[in-house]
Amino acid sequence: MKIDLRYQEKFETRHNNSNEADIKEMLDLIGADSIETLIAQTVPSAIRLPQELRLPAPKSEYQFLKDFKKLAQQNVIHKSHIGMGYYDTIVPPVILRNVLENPAWYTAYTPYQAEIAQGRLEMLLNYQTMVIELTGMEIANASLLDEGTAAAEAMTMLYNLRKASKKNAETFFVSEFCHPQTIDILITRATPLGINILVGDHRKIDLTNEDIFGAILQYPASEGEVFDYTELIAAAHELNVNVVVAADLMALSLLTPPGEMGADVVIGCSQRFGVPMGFGGPHAAFFATKDEFKRHIPGRIIGVSVDSEGNRALRMALQTREQHIRREKATSNICTAQVLLSVMAAAYGVYHGPEGIKAIAKRIYGLTQLTAKALESLGFTVENSQYFDTLKVNTGNHTEAIRAEAIASKINFRYFKDSALHLGISLDETCFFEDVVNIVSVFEKISGKSADLAKIETTIDWAISENLTRKSDFMTHQVFNNYHSEHEMLRYLKSLENKDLSMVHSMISLGSCTMKLNATTEMIPVTWSEFGSIHPFAPAGQTLGYKELVTNLNDWLCEITGFAKMSLQPNSGAQGEYAGLMVIRAYHESRGDSHRNIALIPSSAHGTNPASAVMAGMKVVVTKCDDNGNIDVADLKAKAEQYSENLACLMVTYPSTHGVFEESIKEICALIHEHGGQVYMDGANMNAQVGLTSPATIGADVCHLNLHKTFCIPHGGGGPGMGPIGVAPQLVPFLPGHAVVEGVGGEFAINAVSAAPYGSASILTISYAYIAMMGGEGLRKATQTAILNANYIKARLENDYPVLYTGSQGRCAHEMILDCRPFKLSAGVEAEDIAKRLMDYGFHAPTLSFPVAGTLMVEPTESESKAELDRFCDAMLAIRQEIREIEEGNADKASNVLKHAPHTQAVVLTENWNRPYSREKAVFPLAYVKANKFWPAVSRVDSAYGDRNLICACIPVEEYAHQEA
Ligand SMILES: Cc1ncc(COP(=O)(O)O)c(C=O)c1O
Repeated sequence: MKIDLRYQEKFETRHNNSNEADIKEMLDLIGADSIETLIAQTVPSAIRLPQELRLPAPKSEYQFLKDFKKLAQQNVIHKSHIGMGYYDTIVPPVILRNVLENPAWYTAYTPYQAEIAQGRLEMLLNYQTMVIELTGMEIANASLLDEGTAAAEAMTMLYNLRKASKKNAETFFVSEFCHPQTIDILITRATPLGINILVGDHRKIDLTNEDIFGAILQYPASEGEVFDYTELIAAAHELNVNVVVAADLMALSLLTPPGEMGADVVIGCSQRFGVPMGFGGPHAAFFATKDEFKRHIPGRIIGVSVDSEGNRALRMALQTREQHIRREKATSNICTAQVLLSVMAAAYGVYHGPEGIKAIAKRIYGLTQLTAKALESLGFTVENSQYFDTLKVNTGNHTEAIRAEAIASKINFRYFKDSALHLGISLDETCFFEDVVNIVSVFEKISGKSADLAKIETTIDWAISENLTRKSDFMTHQVFNNYHSEHEMLRYLKSLENKDLSMVHSMISLGSCTMKLNATTEMIPVTWSEFGSIHPFAPAGQTLGYKELVTNLNDWLCEITGFAKMSLQPNSGAQGEYAGLMVIRAYHESRGDSHRNIALIPSSAHGTNPASAVMAGMKVVVTKCDDNGNIDVADLKAKAEQYSENLACLMVTYPSTHGVFEESIKEICALIHEHGGQVYMDGANMNAQVGLTSPATIGADVCHLNLHKTFCIPHGGGGPGMGPIGVAPQLVPFLPGHAVVEGVGGEFAINAVSAAPYGSASILTISYAYIAMMGGEGLRKATQTAILNANYIKARLENDYPVLYTGSQGRCAHEMILDCRPFKLSAGVEAEDIAKRLMDYGFHAPTLSFPVAGTLMVEPTESESKAELDRFCDAMLAIRQEIREIEEGNADKASNVLKHAPHTQAVVLTENWNRPYSREKAVFPLAYVKANKFWPAVSRVDSAYGDRNLICACIPVEEYAHQEA
């Protein structure tokens, strides 16, 4: 017997569908003699890569984790007192293990299919309620990407809603006491829209300046001061100026909420509610406002509605698909947000309750006061008159000595770019008495004096003025007051988890979303403290592990895309689009071509494309698609010529959103270049490219990669994601920089697009792990397998469901569109009915009505085995048979298994079953369903009802009864 002493398990075989016998069977059905033949029939030869990707040899899972630990340990954890919107926090272990580390929560998709997403919808409703009550506002959304972009969203909302008397006002006032990274992003976002940013001291603002339409203030201020903004806001309102307050949730448990001061919008970040700092993210930002603005809120809002049985049911409300409907008229391009992190923050709120949060906040405040008094006793001046958790300390000419001593003691303070005479100290939930001892001892060593902490402790008391002290209750709903023991919390989390269908149940074949395996080994490092406990503005010497990760990932993604450099800053695909377009804009400006502002966008593009283009100050010109779903080259040519003078770019998704590798892509890119434009490639479909072709090869100049699709970051129920951009050499100088961290971005960097220099840095570890374990060959095989799996499904279903578009040789790429429109005529069945019926079979629907209304777009990915693909196909074929029964008059057109889908336990266990089909047919339509049944929690949700009766917070149960009466 030959023994291979070098045998190592290959991760690639765990990730890819790689059973040889199955593959042979699949190829036989498809009618291709090998995968290579299939790929040759699918990907145009003109764009094939000449060689394998040059990536490091793949590591086994075991080896990867061992090596990666060493990289992680190059990050040195110091006690962080930097503040600036990022605080260390204690993730309650019950939440850490059962949410953050739990695939049932992190592999779920955005809750578009509400009936199988009631768990996360409930936790998101809790989040909105918590935010509404802490901020003192009337309505809140379910998350935005980070505090800086939330501030920018607030600015644009107010800009779009300027009152008549302010119709021509163009100036947004920004308090100089805001976090610097927020100011940076506001500048980025304001510039292309023609908004002027006026940064200054809010105490000196001249509100009679007619050009000011809005203002933003920070509460507590970045340097710690707690200002009362009541009078300023009232004065602003007199002059039709609206005010945004960037606030800290922990502080709001003790301080007068901005809503009570009259704020129009309150934004901020919920990171310190149990979400690790992670070198900048991911974290959930929040956005709360007044009821009058409810139809203009960016992002997703969860609302209460009813199901077809009249029971309470939750779903995403109002402008949920705003970009898809309004496209270039959309107010925001937010798509993927930060659902998993708002779930965690809400769970933190549920676990601690209002009293627990207040107790934590009081300790933070008390220890901050202890620190302030101790430092004052040593002779240092604390500049703040009122503070919550942050102090600005006058350290005079001792600053450098203190910095050196602090570093030696493994403590990070905040140092100011504009004052060498001060430093900042912030305290958080992880600080205890000993931490104050440690801070004070640094100052004692430098001053040569000692502070009597025991004596000072006896003097600590609430010292914030009456007007700034919170008197109103918050989080009074039972959900925040019932689950404070671990057992109760565990069971509550589990009860929500059980309502949601995720990848732990079955494949989620959402076209364009690439719901592939999120391997456990890829996820494990995310919760290592070496990645989690690092402040994004920690000194470079402490973040060498992150540096290596960022450098390697940059290199690998460059090899994969063929581009010269990446920016890892954008933290979603849509943010990547925005960043890429801003880079194109800067490039044109640098060449004296600032008039180039036309973005050509095919009609089949994702809604975020036109929305991002408008945000980047471009005008959208839509180009047609032909009958085969390809870009209509004649129309494109005509428009490129028509707008030649002012052409900024083309935005193109490749392979197309129709699931086809367009053969004319090189010609298309060349055409745009001839007219002086740049080509932006939407990389949402990179899963069909990696290792076979690349954005640079097709002729694009910039693209974003949805790391939460192709590169294994799980969707988290609607986020987090990461949308880094890769660029060709001419665009490198303009890659986004950062206001606080040096060395980020190009030589002529545009301002930041995200609050943190590397976006949601801690989840970059996932994509890093994926590439490191797959290697070049494994990645190529993944792409080939994704195409194989899609073509297998196509072969099994195409006789029953017309496949809308294919390439010239009859193949689809990694996804296909199944046309369901004929069933409307033949049986009164809509694509939505099929989507809901799939739930009875234990499946999440494919993408519904994108990019073509009335269709389903199926993307199986490479990670699904033939057995799972067959289960899905069997379900689709069985549903087709159910449609046929209606067509043939054997089932009632109005009352049938599709129209009543999904079926809950409550519905089928009712005593008086009076439907014209059996209970068994309703819930066990195929044998395998019986063996592993997933029960939808509610019946079909009535979305329109919820939009008419908008409720976006937890309200007492009695009030539901009242509403329904
Ligand atoms: C084709 C396409 N472009 C852009 C996006 C936006 O990406 P994100 O949701 O990460 O913002 C998506 C998301 O589904 C997409 O499918």
